[in-house]
Formats: sequence, structure tokens, C-alpha cells
Amino acid sequence: MESVWFSTHTINVPPFVGSLDGSGHDTIIAGAGLTGLATAVLLARSGQRVLVLEARNVGAVATGNTTGKLSLLQGTVLSGIASHQGDEVLRAYVDAQHAGQQWLMRFMEGQRVPYERRDAYTFATTEAGEKALRAEADASARAGVPVTWTGRTELPFPATALLLPDQAQIHPLKVLDALLDELHRHGGTLVEGARVTGVDVRDGSVEVTSSRGTARAGHLVLATGAPIFDRGGHFARLVPSRSYATTHAVEGAIPQGMYLSADDPSRSLRTVPDGDRELLMVGGNGHVVGREDSAAALVEDLVSWTQASFPGAQPLHAWSAQDYRSSDRVPFVGPLAWSEGRVHVATGYNKWGMTNAVASGLALAADLTGGSLPWADTLCDRTPTVAGVVGAVAPNVGVAGELVKDWVGAELRALGDASPDEGEGVVGRGADGLPEGVATVGGRTCRVRAICTHLGGVLHWNDAEKSWDCPLHGSRFSSTGERLEGPAVDDLDGV
Ligand SMILES: Cc1cc2nc3c(=O)[nH]c(=O)nc-3n(C[C@H](O)[C@H](O)[C@H](O)COP(=O)(O)OP(=O)(O)OC[C@H]3O[C@@H](n4cnc5c(N)ncnc54)[C@H](O)[C@@H]3O)c2cc1C
Ligand code: FES
Repeated sequence: MESVWFSTHTINVPPFVGSLDGSGHDTIIAGAGLTGLATAVLLARSGQRVLVLEARNVGAVATGNTTGKLSLLQGTVLSGIASHQGDEVLRAYVDAQHAGQQWLMRFMEGQRVPYERRDAYTFATTEAGEKALRAEADASARAGVPVTWTGRTELPFPATALLLPDQAQIHPLKVLDALLDELHRHGGTLVEGARVTGVDVRDGSVEVTSSRGTARAGHLVLATGAPIFDRGGHFARLVPSRSYATTHAVEGAIPQGMYLSADDPSRSLRTVPDGDRELLMVGGNGHVVGREDSAAALVEDLVSWTQASFPGAQPLHAWSAQDYRSSDRVPFVGPLAWSEGRVHVATGYNKWGMTNAVASGLALAADLTGGSLPWADTLCDRTPTVAGVVGAVAPNVGVAGELVKDWVGAELRALGDASPDEGEGVVGRGADGLPEGVATVGGRTCRVRAICTHLGGVLHWNDAEKSWDCPLHGSRFSSTGERLEGPAVDDLDGV
């Protein structure tokens, strides 16, 4: 499934010839999404020698598949943080969002990257949703975000909403393209198809092993979404959540605001410029990665909802992507404990990475160049609260349950020799008694060891993306076993 962004913009990265072996840099960044490229540009502008290693292609994972709202009104995020943290952390979070938003707007204006200023709404159509809006209004007031109530929306059904005017929506790949240009202008290097597979902290520097060679640097930034090499176990305190997005051609007026529901299942709306018309983007139906029976059914559900709400809407694009939510709803940004301050992580944006990725870049660049930002220090030094610790335990209980259930399930079902129908995949007991997966995609049937190379989760078939997804911490693999995303770094074994 391809996002509207990849359908409408191509980023051409000059091919990297030769090997990285023996090269020296100030900072190596793993990952060329918004976090990686914003951090790279900030460091390169400060005079650092920067190398970005991207396992796939620029924007391939979350950033190229986002809904691209650059907003300080973020659904019900502030009330979520307020239920885990005090006002100091809440205000620091908002300061971070503001810094990230303002930096990116200035960057887009300076580089002539088009974007649209739009009002942002969090809306509700149910009693439960209105209660969530009241909590969000309260948290917004405590954090100094000037939201107002409104009963007037452009939605084709009655709704109550919180409104924050003059936010923005972007084309994420145009932004990444401009960041890449800026990186090159400041002497930085980006290599696509370079998967980072190992790191060794030694003698005050890092040795980074990748599929394109081994390079040294003073620091390594893991801008990989889910953190790889996470010996501190951050991945266990992150919930990987996958959601779906579609675009539609709609006759008549399209709501011009950016809308997100407080009700469940979530619905997210914005427009997308398309030549001399606008498309309607509708997203939602989030769930924990690998724990849904049919992802394809969730796409169909979004299309049905759109056609019921906007009669005559014609579906054009459909795709899905995932992001990570931390237990206290605040991102993790900073050095990993075991790394002597040499390996840094930025993750846990809870589907609000357009502001958070840039804020992370600002925080990391300040740290790596000897500066400091008050909001970044507050967020980095925050202590877990009781609610945060309880929140951290809950997803792990789910993880342990999934692990046992899936191993038992796989061991009980013999797989046999039959090929699944096109687009289908199934897991069962292989000839050696271990979980094996077999799937047919594009007429080709492939068998893989259906055990996640991260920590041994039994994989589930994703019938929308035609991938093997891990229900434990969100790693994903293609039908042929190639690692796509998540904390795993290795491909699946064949059988
Ligand atoms: C459906 C959806 C809608 C969203 N909508 C919004 C929105 O409207 N507004 C908003 O603010 N946020 C939104 N978000 C969140 C936002 O898109 C993400 O938080 C943000 O894009 C994350 O950027 P990133 O650079 O950290 O990660 P990514 O964009 O995922 O980049 C990580 C990169 O690291 C690479 N990588 C991984 N492992 C390795 C390795 N071992 N070696 C080298 N490279 C590696 C990957 O290939 C990838 O390119 C949404 C997220 C989703 C899933
Ligand atoms: S992602 Fe951790 S076990 Fe699969």
C-alpha cells in the first residue's frame, strides 16, 4: 500500500559508491525520517561532520506515511500526559511542541516548501468523547494552550469541538527532500540501504557496523522509530500502534480544518492539495501492532465511514503506518544508560512526531554541541510517576500473554504443504516443531521461520500490508522475511 505522499513526490538520493569502512565522523545518525534528518541538519549547520545511515529509503517508515499535521492541539494528548505527570513536565512538553513547530515552519518558509495553515479541532460526537474534551480543555489551560470550545464545525454531522486556530499541515516528503538538500549543502552524507546492525562503545567513541561497512564517530543517534540496541529495555515501555489512512476524491465542499476525534474508533481528517483540487484524507482505526485479526477489514471500514459521511467519495489511496507511545505519553529523548553518553535515542512520539521529531533534533543537537534547552532538560530528567509505572507494566502483561498464547497456538497447528491463497499467510508448526509461516504474495509462496528476530515473538500475518508483524514490540518483516521496521535488526530465517 502506498501513501499519497510517495505517490506524489519522489526523493532522488545520489547513490553512495564505495565503502564506509574506516570513515570518521562527529555524529552518525541511524534513520532518515524526520527525526534523523532534522537532527542531521542541525548538527551539520553547527559544523559537525554528519553521516546518516538509512536501512531502506528516506521517509520509508513513519514519516512518509504520516497524516502530516503540525499542530499544538494533538487530540487528547495533553490530558494523557497530565494524568501521568505534573504541570512542569506538561508545560515543558508544550514548549517542546512549540519549538518544533516554529522551527519547521521557519525552515519550510526559508526553503520555499509549500504547506497550509489550518485550524485544528479535536471533536466529539458521544458523551464519552465530550468528557475527554473537557479533560483536554483543562489540561490545555494548565499548559497555556489557548483552545476554545465550538459547536460549529465543517463536519457533515453534529459535533462539539475544541479549536486551536492557525496550525499547519505539511507534505512530509517535500520537507524531508528539503532537509536532505540542506544536509548536503553543509557537507553531510546520507547512505540509503545501509542498515545499522551493531555498535561498540570504546575509547570515547562509537564503532557503528552497518550493511554498507563500519564507521566511527563520537556519537550515534538512533532515529530509528523503535530503538535498536536497547539494552535499557525502552522498547518494553513503548506500545507500538498501527493505524490506517486513505484519500478520497469528494464532490462538493471538503472541511478545511484538521480534525481528530476524541471518540473511539478515532477519525482524523485533513485536506491534501492535488493539482487544482483538494482530496480528503481520512485516517484512524489504530491498534497495537500484530494484534488485529484483519488489517484489510480496518481499511474497508475507513472507506465505508468516509462514503457514509461524504456520499459519492471515491477512494484513491490507502496505507498504514505505526508509531510508539511511551507509558507516560512523553517521548524518550537522550542518551542510553549503558552507552557512556555516546548513544542517543529519540522515540515515543505517540503519533505526534511532526513537532516531536524536530523538538528531539533541537534537544539532541543542543546536547551534542555543549548547549542546553530548559524544556529538554525537564523532559529528559523527569521521573516516572506511579501512573507511569503502572502504565509501563500493563502493556508488558499483554506481551507475556501474547507470547505464550502464540507459541502454544503455533505448536498445536501442523502447517502442511498447501499454499495459501494470494495475499494470505498462515502460521503453524513446521517439520521441526517450531513456528513456521507460509504466505503467497504476487504469485510466489514463501516459507519463513515465524519467530521474531528481536526477542522471539510468534509473528502474525498482516493481510493489508502483506507482511509478518510481531505482536510483542512491533517489528515487521516482508512476506519473504526481510526486516521492515521495529526493534529487530535481523531478517527472518528461511526454512
Ligand atoms: C498513521 C500515522 C499518522 C500520523 N500522523 C501524524 C500527524 O498528523 N502529525 C504528527 O505530528 N505526527 C503524526 N504521526 C507520527 C509521525 O509520523 C512520527 O512520529 C514520525 O514520522 C516519526 O519520525 P521518525 O523519524 O522518528 O521515525 P521514522 O519516520 O519511522 O524514521 C525512522 C527511520 O529509521 C530507519 N531505520 C530503522 N532501523 C534502522 C537501522 N537499523 N539502520 C538504519 N536505519 C534504520 C527506518 O527505515 C526509517 O526510515 C503519525 C504516525 C502514524 C503512524
Ligand atoms: S519486536 Fe520484540 S519480540 Fe518481536
